[in-house]
Amino acid sequence: MEFSQGLISAAYIVAALLFIFSLAGLSKQQTAETGNWYGIVGMAIALIATIADPRVDNVWIILVTMVIGAIIGLQLAKKVEMTQMPELVAILHSFVGLAAVLVGFNSYFEMDHSVAATFTDSQQMADNIHLVEVFLGVFIGSVTFTGSIVAFGKLRGIINSAALMLPQRHKLNLVAGIIAIILLVTFVQQGGGDNTLYLMTFIALVFGWHLVASIGGADMPVVVSMLNSYSGWAAAAAGFMLDNDLLIVTGALVGSSGAILSYIMCKAMNRSFISVIAGGFGTNVVIDTETDYGDHIEINAESVADMLNGAKSVIITPGYGMAVAQAQYPVYEMTQALKAKGIDVRFAIHPVAGRLPGHMNVLLAEAKVPYDIVLSMDEINDDFAKTDVVLVIGANDTVNPAAAEDPTSPIAGMPVLEVWHAKNVIVFKRSMSTGYAGVQNPLFFKDNTQMLFGDAKDSVEQIFKAL
Ligand code: TAP
Repeated sequence: MEFSQGLISAAYIVAALLFIFSLAGLSKQQTAETGNWYGIVGMAIALIATIADPRVDNVWIILVTMVIGAIIGLQLAKKVEMTQMPELVAILHSFVGLAAVLVGFNSYFEMDHSVAATFTDSQQMADNIHLVEVFLGVFIGSVTFTGSIVAFGKLRGIINSAALMLPQRHKLNLVAGIIAIILLVTFVQQGGGDNTLYLMTFIALVFGWHLVASIGGADMPVVVSMLNSYSGWAAAAAGFMLDNDLLIVTGALVGSSGAILSYIMCKAMNRSFISVIAGGFGTNVVIDTETDYGDHIEINAESVADMLNGAKSVIITPGYGMAVAQAQYPVYEMTQALKAKGIDVRFAIHPVAGRLPGHMNVLLAEAKVPYDIVLSMDEINDDFAKTDVVLVIGANDTVNPAAAEDPTSPIAGMPVLEVWHAKNVIVFKRSMSTGYAGVQNPLFFKDNTQMLFGDAKDSVEQIFKAL
């Protein structure tokens, strides 16, 4: 089946609109599922229209490849835990980067460089534009490719999550950028050049690797969304090379929404957007293993239940540990039991709690916790002082007072949930070990904090029973 060019353009416009509706839907929990469907339908239309383009030959090869890809994708999606989502996203970004590099090389080698001498002015202009597209596509694609692989390795724990601090690292990045610009000018002026393209690809691969390697663990959320943005621009560049309008539009949507998300995350973590793009921010810090914070106090589930019975207001701050323990279901059962006793229970969500944006919101929605008792950090941070009991369930970095009080801490300046202002704080975790950023949490040693050790799900179930 082949579509006319007009029909393909119409299908592309419909798909592009559906992608925009999809992004709009995904921006709110209530409409996220519909947003997902818009995206799925948009992508199906886009794929059908692209395959039915009369310029596409070897349709069978595409279909067979798609089926193989779909089987692998489905298996992966079924198997992946919610907590492994960021690594999956990171490795998928690397595929987009690699695809842009391959499209770039293919597009370059398809060009007939021997006829350049006979070009008219307008042909020359078109050729130059094409060379710029190839260069930028391969450059952005290569940075995205290696950057995403390093991000995947760090998130998976196979690469050390501490920031790599090469001496003069900012100057190295700057030199790489300047050489890339010189190579671009040479590439266009000489009407191409295989070696120039190879050299730039090598520099961009090392640059991408270094950019992400020099960012420390706690700042990974911003890196993932930044790579999301880069992968969008890489796809848009591939769209220019392939002369495919929909790929340009889709790439630009992903690129700009990723950039907006990175900006929001930077604001949430009080980081400078420019330093994130430049790589290696948040690294001039000392990891302190010496300080003696004093002793911590332990509590058992029955005593927590007694404390909750005597409380008027309770705030629950979930974190990565709640996701690991899959404690969201008993947490909601406990919430309902407390509400039935007339106790005011609300949830406080930190923007980077867990391992992906909106992680906690998704878990709580899964357990059917009503949206109106789930509040963002800005909405609830001033209420802790008026709260009787705060239950910190598997959160650590996002409730660490060092972020506000210790300028040498790796998480210094990151806004956190100020739970320590409440009358009582109960921390649910299995040991005294650190959170994702690898820093000790002075909250655990405060006079109004008590530690409830054990798996979060077991602890919550025990409290529910005792209630
Ligand atoms: P974290 O700082 O990661 O701490 C989680 C805590 O949960 C740990 O201290 C761990 O202590 C505890 N835990 C693990 N399994 C548990 C279980 N089964 N039962 C009870 N407790 C358990 O959590 P957070 O406050 O959510 O902070 C998130 C961190 O991840 C931030 O540093 C953030 O920058 C980073 N990050 C976020 C994202 C996004 S986009 N959200 C992406 C990548 C990285 P024990 O081992 O002692 O139990």
